[in-house]
Amino acid sequence: MNLKDLFIDYFVSQGHKQIPSAPIVPENDPSVLFNTAGMQPLIPYLMGEVHPYGKRLCDYQKCVRLTDLEEIGDKTHHTFFEMLGNWSLGDYFKKESIGYSFEFLTKVLHIPVERLAITVYEGDEKIPRDDVSAEAWMNLGIPKERIAYLGKDDNFWIPGDSGPCGGDTEIFYWRSEDEIPKVFDSEDNRWVEIWNNVFMEFYQDKDGNVTELKQKNVDTGMGLERVVAVLEGVDDNYLTSIWKNMREKLESISGKTYYGNEEAMRIILDHVRTSVFIAADPAGIKPSNTDQGYILRRLIRRAIRYARVLDMDIHSNFLEELALVVIEEYQNYYHELSQNKNVVLEVLKNEQNKFSRTLEKGLKVFEKVAQNSNFIDGETAFHLYDTFGFPIELTKEEASLRNMKVDEEGFKARFLEHQEKSRTASKGKFKGGLSGNSEIETKYHTATHLLNAALKKVIGSDVHQLGSNITEERLRFDFPCDHKLTDEEKQRVEELVNQWIDEGLPVIKETMSKEDAIKSGAECMFIDKYPDEVTVYSIGDISKELCGGPHVKNTKEIGHFKIKKEESSSAGVRRIKGVIE
Ligand code: ALA
Repeated sequence: MNLKDLFIDYFVSQGHKQIPSAPIVPENDPSVLFNTAGMQPLIPYLMGEVHPYGKRLCDYQKCVRLTDLEEIGDKTHHTFFEMLGNWSLGDYFKKESIGYSFEFLTKVLHIPVERLAITVYEGDEKIPRDDVSAEAWMNLGIPKERIAYLGKDDNFWIPGDSGPCGGDTEIFYWRSEDEIPKVFDSEDNRWVEIWNNVFMEFYQDKDGNVTELKQKNVDTGMGLERVVAVLEGVDDNYLTSIWKNMREKLESISGKTYYGNEEAMRIILDHVRTSVFIAADPAGIKPSNTDQGYILRRLIRRAIRYARVLDMDIHSNFLEELALVVIEEYQNYYHELSQNKNVVLEVLKNEQNKFSRTLEKGLKVFEKVAQNSNFIDGETAFHLYDTFGFPIELTKEEASLRNMKVDEEGFKARFLEHQEKSRTASKGKFKGGLSGNSEIETKYHTATHLLNAALKKVIGSDVHQLGSNITEERLRFDFPCDHKLTDEEKQRVEELVNQWIDEGLPVIKETMSKEDAIKSGAECMFIDKYPDEVTVYSIGDISKELCGGPHVKNTKEIGHFKIKKEESSSAGVRRIKGVIE
């Protein structure tokens, strides 16, 4: 049986409900590009909101971490990985959590106790030393010498710089053939961390102020890749069964063996897998020059660059062939992969077509400059970006391979200048025809505010925007709600929105400080995301929201609003798709 199934079966047998893996692109948290931990989609519930599945949850969550994108190529790093996790939302705490982890590792996975060691939080001015956890471990048979007390850098976990947080206890495994030392030394890298149990009791805001949460939670995370490597007795994650079929496919396409070509192969395998998951996500990400689209672009282009290192034909359909193996491997767990298979293949093909033609030419620029200089100036870096499609990160990487430096500041200046120019040019040309600003999208923006207000009236005042997405064809709006909307509710919402449209309410834009905006009662979901000076849009006296716009001047301009679809988006979150006719 595979590790994901063993994990879920075990925690379900201990009274946990399995929750589905959330999309890789967070739907209700614009502060991060991708989910980076299993707990990320659960933040509202760790903060005290009631989860519709109860207080004991478990899942496997797909995650993307980009901090080491350029480091990929070693044995253990990945941009995409799966995190196994179990949660107590104000239910059990330290002792039980430790008991579950211990039982799963030793009874289900049959890991010998002698190979385990533990770290616990040594405490600080506010939080006492975690003797409770240490004692729980000792009672289960972990010797005292195998338990280390460590400080905030090691045994305190917080998602980024603010959020629910707390001290943690981490479980380590002795991966070496060498004799296991009696005393645990967490600096000895033959001990590898396999599981992190965080005891989330606090909330820390961006200024570092710490308050107690409403409830004491447990948040655990176990990196699937690493644990499979441990169980299969290899120290290179890419040599596990997880990668076997993908690795063999790449070997057969390239005609090269993994051994001797590890770095390039790991990069290609990692980047293709991550690209497949990003492109298959319901968010519909396409390669672009901003946000998630830019990451997708970088990953695909870097994979192509390393295919060239392996002397592969970079015009062949190798990306699609590899993607098909990724889809095959994961589709039983992540249905969006098979559902969006054609989209994924299309994304890879298009991006490859764009880049494989210019890569050679771009590399020639490098060769030419390198003949009499060790410096890529801003103009050249921009030329590589603009004409040959080299993301600046790729230019930096190519430069460093040749011991060259890049004038990044010069590049940025040139980039901004170009952006400003094309913005002015397109304004003149299309008069608001740019994406995100078209007349119809503007109407959808205002309709979204009306929909939010109508839902508050019909469903309840705690409805708010968890996610919103607007195209020329429709609006999409996600909001917290514990039930499927009835036909009457949907009808009532439609009626209200259309009533307000018919009333011809003025839409007023005001600019003010963020503080004043909040004081004035304007609705705002992601306060930290906004600059100090913000715009607030009011529609008559029925809606007031902090928003970048654009909006119509009067609701009459919108037309007739209709709900096309109402469905579940994730646990406790409903999604409405609406159109203007
Ligand atoms: N949220 C914790 C982590 O990511 C479990 O390590």
